[in-house]
Amino acid sequence: MSTILILGATSAVAGRIAELYGEASTAGQPHRIYLIGRRKEAVKGLLERLGEVVVGTDSVDFVDLPATELCIRKAYEQMGSFDCVLIAHGVIGDQLVSEKNIEEALSVIEVNLTSVVAQLVTLTELMANQPSGKIGVITSVAGDRGRPRNYTYGAAKGALNIYLQGLRSVRWGSGLEVYTFKLGPVDSPMTVDHEKNFSFSTVDTAAKKIVQAFESRRYVHYIPGYWWIVMWVVRWLPERVFQKLGFLSDR
Ligand SMILES: NC(=O)c1ccc[n+]([C@@H]2O[C@H](COP(=O)([O-])OP(=O)(O)OC[C@H]3O[C@@H](n4cnc5c(N)ncnc54)[C@H](OP(=O)(O)O)[C@@H]3O)[C@@H](O)[C@H]2O)c1
Repeated sequence: MSTILILGATSAVAGRIAELYGEASTAGQPHRIYLIGRRKEAVKGLLERLGEVVVGTDSVDFVDLPATELCIRKAYEQMGSFDCVLIAHGVIGDQLVSEKNIEEALSVIEVNLTSVVAQLVTLTELMANQPSGKIGVITSVAGDRGRPRNYTYGAAKGALNIYLQGLRSVRWGSGLEVYTFKLGPVDSPMTVDHEKNFSFSTVDTAAKKIVQAFESRRYVHYIPGYWWIVMWVVRWLPERVFQKLGFLSDR
């Protein structure tokens, strides 16, 4: 029996991951799942879909840090331990607005970085005395190189990658395993306005690959894996070459 907490459970990818754990539970690999998300109705819908594998739910806006901390502590009290925690929420924001409007810029940073760091502080304190446990956070390939199309969002996700790297090091060998899932583009509500091309994965594919990655002893995963090679090239392109490649350096 494993206890699973999902933060940002109403995300399309996280919702599918919750379903996969629910299906595994029905198939004889028992889990207890606790869901926390923002939209009450969506959390309720997920609860109805998943049934009794869900042992608790809460809804809260993650920018309300004290309220979120209370929700996490309440979940821990009920579960007794967290074997596995997934942090999945995020917002892409409006890049152009974020370049002119401080509030928009800070809001993107707040949701994608600050709120996640706050959650990690609470989670690592609670999980410190467990013999083992896993925390996985969904970041983005956008965090590997600043691009005109989404660099405010990318900056938040990139900073989060660094935070997770440090946390993973400090907890190395302690039993607490920290996973970074760098997601490529996914056809989900987040990208509803984006023109789709071959580089987009489905929600189902992304969710299945994250569940698989959570079982490995490798802690940084590109989802799907081929983004590792793509981003290796994109990351190391010299600035002058990068600026000549319109598909990377244009809006
Ligand atoms: N889709 C992509 O192309 C893509 C690519 C790379 C990385 N990612 C990352 O993958 C993760 C999952 O995204 P997705 O594709 O599943 O998109 P999604 O369906 O739009 O999910 C985003 C989730 O974030 C939640 N959220 C946003 N602001 C919040 C806040 N202040 N408090 C609480 N929850 C908040 C939303 O809650 P509500 O339901 O209440 O709105 C929603 O559940 C995110 O971290 C995203 O950054 C996505």
